[in-house]
Amino acid sequence: ALRSACPVQLRPVDSGKRPGCLVLGYAEAREALADARFSKDTAAFFEGSGSRRRLHPAVGRTMLASDPPRHTRLRKLVTRAFTTGAVAELRPFIARVADELLERWSPGERFDFVAGLAVPLPVIVICELLGVPESDRADVRRWSAELFAAGEPDVVDRASHAMADYMTDLITAKRLHPGESLLDRLIAARAGNEELSEDELVSLAVLLLVAGHETTTNFLGNALLALLRHPAALGRLRDDPDGIPAALDELLRFDPPVSTATFRFSTEALTLGGVEISAGVPVQVALGAANRDPEPFPAPDLLDLDRDATSHLAFGHGIHRCVGAPLAKAEGEIVLRAVLHRFPGIRLAVPPERLEWRRTRLVRGLAAL
Ligand code: HEM
Repeated sequence: ALRSACPVQLRPVDSGKRPGCLVLGYAEAREALADARFSKDTAAFFEGSGSRRRLHPAVGRTMLASDPPRHTRLRKLVTRAFTTGAVAELRPFIARVADELLERWSPGERFDFVAGLAVPLPVIVICELLGVPESDRADVRRWSAELFAAGEPDVVDRASHAMADYMTDLITAKRLHPGESLLDRLIAARAGNEELSEDELVSLAVLLLVAGHETTTNFLGNALLALLRHPAALGRLRDDPDGIPAALDELLRFDPPVSTATFRFSTEALTLGGVEISAGVPVQVALGAANRDPEPFPAPDLLDLDRDATSHLAFGHGIHRCVGAPLAKAEGEIVLRAVLHRFPGIRLAVPPERLEWRRTRLVRGLAAL
């Protein structure tokens, strides 16, 4: 409703003291995400706004919260370490984890897909990729959930310090006993590389750890729910599982895990979608609203596995487009294959309107399914 009223809106934030910009239309969202005049350097923005946040700098100033040239330099190192080969190698591991988690349920039994699979699987996978020992994974999961929930500032700040301190220790341990993980490759990239500081190395590791699971947890839950609510689509993928990879983009478009907000701020006065925005205005791009814009996606509220949804914005757009997209898609494909194979008659145990959604500000995901 907001989007059809106006795709770009100036709205009061901070109890009405300052304006904020909400971007809802697809074309406008794409434009904002690709426009270098919108900065991601939120640390600089918060410093300017007199905020008293105590986020650890490794969490507050990640690659995702940086502009070029810093972003370009760090992103190059990540893409070099995060190869397609590394994702392909992980596939058998992901399938094994999915099977082990699903094995605990029998057909006919009621189970919670979120707690039983969507939450644990992405943490296990990203920890495996980064070389985080099994014994530490529960802590990592808790800190990450606290960071994402964006609840009490103190809790978020404390979690950011716990996560950064943990990563610093893990890097020290890995220097003594090097391995083959993605983190080991980043550590090797730092050795003899004046361009990557120790703080930046910690920050990259924390970002990968955090960005890599909360989002994927919600993707798995949202995707399965979409199929459960569209039995014809579910039946089609169950009968032809090779159609699953092609269906992932439509599932991501339909109910994107990063839905309500990804932030930037304007560095100069400019116009977006005919709306004048002055310098220093926080800009919230609502990817979920953009993905349901009828202009590029006719009948947007329909889950249509035949539509070409590859231009969806669930992974963002422009220089910050998600580096983990191939891994997230591999997880989605493998999990849906395993679920539909094991439980061909799977259905919702409660009416959809009784499902509870998690209370978070940025991401959209189920509390239980
Ligand atoms: C960036 C979504 C999974 C790592 C982003 C952005 C979005 C996104 C929307 C861009 C945000 C912006 O421009 O403000 C998602 C979704 C996922 C997912 C929906 C799951 C379905 C992953 C995974 C990883 C990952 C599995 C890592 C293993 C990153 C990183 C960035 C990023 C490092 C920052 C890229 C940059 O600043 O250049 N993601 N992500 N994501 N994502 Fe993902």
